[in-house]
Amino acid sequence: PLVSSTPMLQAARAGGYCIGAFNVHTLEMLQAAVEAAEELRSPIILQTTVGTVKHLGPDYIAAAATVAANRSSVPIALHLDHCSDFDLIVRCIRAGYTSVMIDASPFPFDENVRLTAKVVEVARAAGVNVEAELGKVGGVEDDIVVDERDALLADPDECERFVRLTGVPTLAPAIGTAHGIYKGEPRIDFDRIRRIAERVAVPLVLHGGSGIPDDQVRECIRLGMSKMNVATELRIVFSDAIKAVFASNPDENDPRKYMVPAKQALREAVAAKIRLCGSAGKA
Ligand code: 13P
Ligand code: ZN
Ligand code: NA
Repeated sequence: PLVSSTPMLQAARAGGYCIGAFNVHTLEMLQAAVEAAEELRSPIILQTTVGTVKHLGPDYIAAAATVAANRSSVPIALHLDHCSDFDLIVRCIRAGYTSVMIDASPFPFDENVRLTAKVVEVARAAGVNVEAELGKVGGVEDDIVVDERDALLADPDECERFVRLTGVPTLAPAIGTAHGIYKGEPRIDFDRIRRIAERVAVPLVLHGGSGIPDDQVRECIRLGMSKMNVATELRIVFSDAIKAVFASNPDENDPRKYMVPAKQALREAVAAKIRLCGSAGKA
């Protein structure tokens, strides 16, 4: 069965490594990610955005992930990524998700606390992990001035208060990364990760994993990040492989054929991230 992501993330935090959380959008992507985890004997988190939940349906996604988990000998969790809709969170938990993110980070601190605590309460009863966010992950641009940037990143004291007030088991603090591929290099506030990890015992989540140079990912993990989300790079790898098939054979019309190189490419991309996370052999 699918497992909660709480134990695998706590083990990662204690062990100084990281668990990869991979955004998947199709059955082939889900299968390829699981195959990579099995090959490397790594726990894995499969995750879907709200957009993917609406595209496929939470029950279809949970059913496919459950089949993967039932066949697999590595721990597999299914996580709902960035959701601010309480009802959708409850629907996903009912469908079988074992981890959910309540992203109330655009709201003021007190409102974020209130919404997160509410999700923690329902999720706890179901044995489901909860991730919440403090600060703003996506909005940190290269050309932003230091004071403004500072205001967007998570404050270590607030992180401590937030975890205490909500009881949230997993925290995603904004530390300078952004979703998508960076224009230049990300400007990660490494010292902030260290200070947050000192004040907060729960596993910390690194968002915006695509495009971060490997040595910077390793430094984030060393300083206390225990989950890394990767979405954009996987979409690109998968789509590029399909484009390559059609470029050389525009008449191809069999999904069972044109999906094969995409699956293989995704499997390799996920395997590379698992190795980077240091979770190979931890299953
Ligand atoms: P990337 O698209 O940059 O990999 O970010 C993924 C993410 O943070 C999903 O929550
Ligand atoms: Zn994210
Ligand atoms: Na990114």
